[in-house]
Amino acid sequence: MEKLLPDQLKQLWRMVEQEQLTLEEFSREQERFLAEYRSLWEQALILNGHENLQESLCSELAQYSGCEDLAEIQRRCSCALSNVKGEWHGSSVDRDDHQSVQQFYNESEAMIYELMWWHSLSEDDSPLACVTAFHFAQMHGCRTYLDFGAGVGSGGIVFARHGLDVTLADISSAMLSFSQWRFGLRDLSAQFIDLKVGGLPGNAYDMLAAMDVFEHLVDPIQTVDELWRALKPGGYLFGRFHSEVDEDRPHHIVQDFEPTLKRLESLGFVEVWRDEWLWGHQVFQKA
Ligand SMILES: C[S@@+](CC[C@H](N)C(=O)[O-])C[C@H]1O[C@@H](n2cnc3c(N)ncnc32)[C@H](O)[C@@H]1O
Repeated sequence: MEKLLPDQLKQLWRMVEQEQLTLEEFSREQERFLAEYRSLWEQALILNGHENLQESLCSELAQYSGCEDLAEIQRRCSCALSNVKGEWHGSSVDRDDHQSVQQFYNESEAMIYELMWWHSLSEDDSPLACVTAFHFAQMHGCRTYLDFGAGVGSGGIVFARHGLDVTLADISSAMLSFSQWRFGLRDLSAQFIDLKVGGLPGNAYDMLAAMDVFEHLVDPIQTVDELWRALKPGGYLFGRFHSEVDEDRPHHIVQDFEPTLKRLESLGFVEVWRDEWLWGHQVFQKA
């Protein structure tokens, strides 16, 4: 079976350690592989008539928000992270209260801009972990895919573009409406679940991803239980279980993932893969 990119890079690094490859050759290879990832991401997301990812994502925001001024959209994007922080502090969110946190995500105006900007890869390339998740799904023959905490839906678009049966679930109506509109724009279909009003179906998915979601959860253990029920036996959970205290991101409310990882284990989830090179994601399989 072909290896996932983080494993390929780790293997190449061993060759550097054994002096079979120079650092420059390694860096060139890493850049080449990441360029392939970037290309898959861009091909899935850039709309017809646009050549550049950042400009295409901004044009979506412009069209959706009714603000034609792309410079203004870019300004909103570049201020989005600090605006999310302002919204969090401004609405005095109680990080231990599910309703309070839910209301924050449901009402945040800046979060859509923040996520779209992040997905433009202008700040860092970690959204490309979605491409690893997609390759994992391909390698394991997954057909039904749940994007849990789907945000603006870019990950779901990647999977749907390649023919998977995609469901997006989130607690934010704003995020779900925007994602639904983005799918419509591309003539792609998906199911959308507003977790404020509906739960996840049981035994339904071959794979689910919670990309940069667990650090946002008031009760990650309850979520693990829900995700366990939603997966088919043998199904895969792809996620990142790591976050550090970050004063720019007060909405990252979970830093200790030990209880979550213990719960995964006690339910019978088995870790089957870990990214030890790029972004630190893990995959657990439902026994
Ligand atoms: C940082 S965003 C990540 C979005 C997307 N997965 C991505 O990679 O771009 C976190 C998402 O988690 C959602 N979220 C927060 N609490 C949640 C919960 N209890 N259940 C489901 N989604 C939740 C937020 O609404 C937001 O869309």
